[in-house]
Amino acid sequence: EKGTYPYYMLKEIDDQPTVMRRVVQEYTDSFGETVINQEIIDHVTDSDRIYIIACGTSYNAGWVGKAIIEKMTNTPVEVHLSSEFGYNMPLLSEKPFFIFLSQSGETADSRQVLVQANEFSYPSLTLTNVAGSTLSREADYTLLLHAGPEIAVASTKAYTAQIAVLAVLAKAVGDHKGNQSSLDFDIAHELSVIAAVMETMIDEKMVISQLVEDYLATTRNAFYIGRGVDYYVSMEASLKLKEISYIQAEGFAAGELKHGTIALIEEGTPVFGVVTDKKTAAHTRGNLKEVESRGAHNFVISLQSLAKETDQVIIPDVHPLLTPLVSIIPTQLIAYFATLQRGYDVDKPRNLAKSVTVE
Ligand code: M6R
Repeated sequence: EKGTYPYYMLKEIDDQPTVMRRVVQEYTDSFGETVINQEIIDHVTDSDRIYIIACGTSYNAGWVGKAIIEKMTNTPVEVHLSSEFGYNMPLLSEKPFFIFLSQSGETADSRQVLVQANEFSYPSLTLTNVAGSTLSREADYTLLLHAGPEIAVASTKAYTAQIAVLAVLAKAVGDHKGNQSSLDFDIAHELSVIAAVMETMIDEKMVISQLVEDYLATTRNAFYIGRGVDYYVSMEASLKLKEISYIQAEGFAAGELKHGTIALIEEGTPVFGVVTDKKTAAHTRGNLKEVESRGAHNFVISLQSLAKETDQVIIPDVHPLLTPLVSIIPTQLIAYFATLQRGYDVDKPRNLAKSVTVE
């Protein structure tokens, strides 16, 4: 129920700290050790390559998951759009393991790939919010997101729940393999920190609403840029913005701008920079300068330890692999307020359905 909330989306954004705590509760014990079905851990450990298959927001979560899983487990991960993979199956490794990400568990494009994986008897796991859904029933294993019902068409808490559950899985496998980076990763503690920082970001609603008025009131387009995980967040942030506010929004790899995209920058074009990664911060700042000198109206979301005074949104520091869980929050709020201010229905954007059951 949305209770006193004007829209489900706002409630679902607010739910996220609770969802993080629930993931900790469901998937770790009182010693902070992960609690995941041992058969899943054995299959992933045994595989030489993980294939993440998903659409839309779940696909964008898959990219963040890839970064975490590779770091913790040393197993290569590929992320694929279901609708592409299904008809143009790439050459697979010898021992593939399939992970399907689907909030609804009913997405036809993803199911189509699962049917093929089952024909070859490849082991598979579905991460979904809906127990008993088609993708859950037809895969070998399921990990539930425990995000609670997600009603708004624009997915928010399923994205952060998918990343959190993938991080727990990565930790479970990494520990099983004895990898030091995984043994050093206190997932229960880090996700609890994330929940608290999410609350801080959610409390910034009125600040974000004002910034959205300043940056997005009349614009027809907007860009998000970043590198690494900040690029992955940019992809999701722009999907969110375009699907409900109808502002043409794209997420770009910041380093790619000069290879073509920068031609789109005009006087006043809003460019959102995501800067949470120490390795790439200086380079992304350089890219932001380049667009600014061509007229862009820059809006920077940065991590406290990398922040400049002039940045619009500053996020308290969290574990470097988990920054997307918090940097996504202001972008969800940006999409929400841009839509509200334009007078559109936040929860039910035109042309879209909550679950897409056609290929
Ligand atoms: O239920 P699924 O996670 O499989 O859905 C995938 C996409 O249809 C979904 O994420 C869609 O992109 C959302 N409208 C994004 O907000």
